[in-house]
Amino acid sequence: AVGAGAPTDLAGLQVVVSAGGTREPIDPVRFIGNRSSGRQGVAVALAAADRGADVVLVAAHVDEGVLAEASTRPSVRIVGAGTAVELGAVMAVEAESADVVVMAAAVADYRVAEVSPRKRTKEAAPEGGITLDLVENPDILAGLVRSRRHGQTIVGFAAETPGEGETLLDRGRRKAARKGTDLLAVNEVGWTRGFESADNAVTVIDAAGEVVAARRGSKRDVAEALWDAVLVVRESRAN
Ligand code: CTP
Ligand code: CA
Repeated sequence: AVGAGAPTDLAGLQVVVSAGGTREPIDPVRFIGNRSSGRQGVAVALAAADRGADVVLVAAHVDEGVLAEASTRPSVRIVGAGTAVELGAVMAVEAESADVVVMAAAVADYRVAEVSPRKRTKEAAPEGGITLDLVENPDILAGLVRSRRHGQTIVGFAAETPGEGETLLDRGRRKAARKGTDLLAVNEVGWTRGFESADNAVTVIDAAGEVVAARRGSKRDVAEALWDAVLVVRESRAN
């Protein structure tokens, strides 16, 4: 439900937002994970719901407290996903009926090649250390772009650490081109930035690499700026 005075500029839109981070099992008790709390993705989902959209939130290990906020909303349906492969399967299904798809989840690039059915023991391992074989996970976002429906808008997120000789924006532009996204929200992360914090700073670039929005503030502020940008690209597309 939308409260009095709330904007309804996303009314009638079906949106799917992934949030959180995948976990790739090593054995029944261990996994390879990442530091994503799901806050930014949940903020994107809640902002859309408050602006009138019907929302599917695909949650991969989102922090309990973060997810709680979304679970009371009648216009937000929550679907869980654990691994990258599971997330890919859920996204493929949910995207079929979506006008806008946002991949805010941190997807593991690799999974363990052979997951042990039993807990690995040191006793059974070579002395001094072990090696885990990893295989690349499918690129969910690139797959969504490949099967994009007519009129569908696909948005990615890119967390980047500043590197040698290349700006964040240049990296984002290359990534947007590689993925074929309509919009890519690029943000700087580091050991102390981005993940656990309430705030975020994001630059949004379109398919041509043009900066269409830049916002520093709460994750909700960033989410609102992202939806503004989505509306701009959808309107320009419609003409
Ligand atoms: N993504 C995805 N599937 C993957 C990896 C990433 O859908 N297997 C999505 C993320 O959800 C995000 C976007 O792609 O929206 C960018 O993720 P990122 O990790 O920055 O891109 P990668 O292509 O994995 O490149 P990098 O080598 O920088 O990790
Ligand atoms: Ca990656």
